[in-house]
Amino acid sequence: MIKSLDDLLAKLTRAPLSQETVNSIFQETQVAKEAFSKYFIFSKNCYMRNLIHRTDAFELLVICWEPGQQTPLHDHNSSAGWMLPLDGTISETRYRVQPDPEPHFVKVSSQPAREISYIDDFIGMHVLHNDSGQRAATLHVYTPPISECRYYDFQTLATRTATMRYHSQDGVTCS
Ligand SMILES: [Fe+2]
Repeated sequence: MIKSLDDLLAKLTRAPLSQETVNSIFQETQVAKEAFSKYFIFSKNCYMRNLIHRTDAFELLVICWEPGQQTPLHDHNSSAGWMLPLDGTISETRYRVQPDPEPHFVKVSSQPAREISYIDDFIGMHVLHNDSGQRAATLHVYTPPISECRYYDFQTLATRTATMRYHSQDGVTCS
């Protein structure tokens, strides 16, 4: 079992980051949510991306969600992403583009994320949303780190490239 954040970082740093290894690392992760408390930084303005650690191979961050906050529909720019709920409940709705007769998005699944979830661009795109009425916090690994992704407009399928930013790093709010 992985019981501390240091152990989790050591495992992620040493392991070859295939889907299988990150899955098994997250499955072994039983770190108390209190260990992440310095990364629990919330804002009424937007969901908060709080960086724990970044290398060329991966980034580990805590996303903090006030009630009602959600992401745009987005892809992951060829990265692989895992999510582990730390506190509260986040829901995920996945979409694919249906090509016929006119291209449009179709909902593939929608459910509260209660355990490890995985996504990449082959699986589809998604929206993460906090419908719970309570604050929530989720732990994310992306490999490689995502510097840019695409946001999608449901009606037009138009895309907008977004530069990813952190709202805090190592517990310190970014200016
Ligand atoms: Fe995502």
